[in-house]
Amino acid sequence: MPRGLFITIEGLDGSGKTTQIKRLAAWMQKRGLDPVITRQPGGTATGDRIRALLLDSGSTPLAPTTEMALMFADRAQAIAEVIEPALAAGRIALCDRFTDSTEAYQGGGRQLGSERVLDLHRLICGDLQPDLTLLLLPSLESSLARARNRNERTTAQTGQDENRFEQEQGEFFKRVWAKYREIARREPSRVVLIEGNLSIDEVYEQIVEAVSERLVANSPAR
Ligand code: TYD
Repeated sequence: MPRGLFITIEGLDGSGKTTQIKRLAAWMQKRGLDPVITRQPGGTATGDRIRALLLDSGSTPLAPTTEMALMFADRAQAIAEVIEPALAAGRIALCDRFTDSTEAYQGGGRQLGSERVLDLHRLICGDLQPDLTLLLLPSLESSLARARNRNERTTAQTGQDENRFEQEQGEFFKRVWAKYREIARREPSRVVLIEGNLSIDEVYEQIVEAVSERLVANSPAR
């Protein structure tokens, strides 16, 4: 059984990832590809509990290293329970955020540095690398405005408070944004950078193009 394909989607809060993952999943399903879709933090029963701890604005103070460790605890569980089994079964694992998020938010945003994050990734995640990462990077201003609106709406509708990260200041998100760009420059063959304020359809077209190319490259020779 050939191993499946591991695809991650990355970007700032409000970069439009959720919409694009839904469309991409539908595109795959139409082609009979049946992806396993998951997100971080969360995606497993244990991960959902870790997610609540991480995102609730009541979880303060949370030391940056605690935050980083919890992200990796969540990830270790997701790899064991969801991602590895999917890949071993030859399926596509489509993951909303992975270690690039920890490098960008904790390494960049919280200023813990890339090295510590990448060391932990090797230790805890066996250095599992996505085959393809789609990085959505519209301008900082438009991402932040969208994320704030969405979170206010969700809190008003459901009472759920997942706003801890949104309470950060502009400087924090500037560092996250810059770290994402640095990752894209460092790993151009894995990371497809989709930049600028494009329409939902334009972003979707670029995603489908990148995923199609990777699927062709991954298909066994006929
Ligand atoms: P989520 O509601 O899933 O945001 P989004 O829909 O924008 O992905 O919240 C995830 C938050 O957790 C987001 O603010 C980014 C942050 N995060 C980290 O700081 N480090 C990580 O390793 C991961 C996976 C997420």
